[in-house]
Amino acid sequence: MSTSIAILAAGLGTRMRSKRAKVLHRAGGLALVEHVVAAAREIAAAERIVVVTGHQSADVEALLRPTGVSFVRQDPPLGTGHALACCREKLETSSGMLMVLYGDTPLLSAATLQRLFETQERAGAAATLITTALDDPSGYGRVIADQHGNVEAIVEHKDCNAQQREVRTINSGIYCFRAELLWRHLSEVKPNPLSGEFYLTDMAAILRGHGHGVRALHINDPAELLGINTRVELAEADRILRQRKTNELMLAGVTIERPETVTVDPGVTAGMDTVIEPGVRLLGNTKIGEDCRIGAGAVIESSVLEDGVVIGPYTVITNSRLDAGANAGPFSRMRPGAHAGPNSHIGNFVELKNTYLGAGSKSQHLAYLGDSKIGAGVNIGAGTITCNYDGQKKHPTTIGDGAFVGSNSTLVAPLEIGAESYIGAGSVVTENVPPGALAVGRGRQANKPGWVEKRKKKSPATTD
Ligand code: UD1
Ligand code: CA
Repeated sequence: MSTSIAILAAGLGTRMRSKRAKVLHRAGGLALVEHVVAAAREIAAAERIVVVTGHQSADVEALLRPTGVSFVRQDPPLGTGHALACCREKLETSSGMLMVLYGDTPLLSAATLQRLFETQERAGAAATLITTALDDPSGYGRVIADQHGNVEAIVEHKDCNAQQREVRTINSGIYCFRAELLWRHLSEVKPNPLSGEFYLTDMAAILRGHGHGVRALHINDPAELLGINTRVELAEADRILRQRKTNELMLAGVTIERPETVTVDPGVTAGMDTVIEPGVRLLGNTKIGEDCRIGAGAVIESSVLEDGVVIGPYTVITNSRLDAGANAGPFSRMRPGAHAGPNSHIGNFVELKNTYLGAGSKSQHLAYLGDSKIGAGVNIGAGTITCNYDGQKKHPTTIGDGAFVGSNSTLVAPLEIGAESYIGAGSVVTENVPPGALAVGRGRQANKPGWVEKRKKKSPATTD
């Protein structure tokens, strides 16, 4: 398709009441403008897509650069008509159609853009714009059209007279222009008398004035056309986008309990017969296998869970990996580089960082395991701490297969604990332990028979 697309994303978005440019605010796990660019890229090559940036242009451009689109700066932003005028140099030579989208309509689908393009081609009009009817059209530009769908003008909400304000058909801000006619007449847009801004919407009346047809493509379901101006609308868009994602997972065979409470980023995948309990957040590029269970309130970011993994409630996992059949939680923490081997168990209040816990090994309660390599079939007792940091450097701990680390052991790294060895409970271990050895590093217990009686005789207890 020989279509170019301009995406207007230079405005601050005053109604957001934010220091951050509106199009950078996130809904459904992506910045608003990322959604629009994704839809645009489905119908046009990246070389044909230009994004107009202004407020925080460097941030917007850095975010979008990997998509291959190009940029035009609008500085200062003087309205949507002015934003498009800034693209003249870059886009004037391209013939055919020019689509214009706004960076604050994140629910827009590529299928709708395709329909817009086809409608415009078929009608042979100078421009086609997408309209819909809203129960509450306040804030939107009203589309003045005859009963055949010929658009006379678009009137911004603030400029409407009482009668125009009653019109419920609104401009979605999604247009397809015949490029050559647009560039010929765009300079005729004059500043709005109320705001001083150049309104792209004036083009409808301008093209009509030159005897050209302007058409409306009316869409019955307005959900897709939601323009985000406030944080209330942002939350609504987020809700819709999150629902789309959880629906997609459920239709692919994942059970989600109370899906309205679950947050799943677009890059997340999950396998068949996995169950996701209420309040879970699955973020980044997390990959979850089949037959897993993700407990209530778990937060899992950019991690891999193989088949049959069970995560207890309120477990937090970041940049980590759990092999098939591993368990973590409730209340476990896996920090970057944690790796639970097949069928291993990580229990409550156990924290792993940059640590491999071998196949079938268990650390069930109250432990910190950092910079460690732990073999298969190891038991880590409650309260075990790897002292991996000496105040200056981090040091590694290795624990061989089948070792038994007694409760409340303090393992001072660097340290090697041999296979099949035993560490007595409460030990402070500062030296390597050979395979098969028992290591006890604690003060020996001394019992003093009759001590209590003797003390009582020496100084009788006082009561008051
Ligand atoms: C605009 C339309 C309105 C339509 C509504 C649909 C105009 C004048 N009005 O109103 O008819 O019903 O969208 O959502 O176009 N932008 C720039 N440069 C600027 C100003 C804005 O790039 O100088 C960008 C913004 O970043 C934003 C988009 O254009 O992504 C729309 O701007 P916004 O101020 O939100 O327009 P609305 O008042 O919503
Ligand atoms: Ca808007």
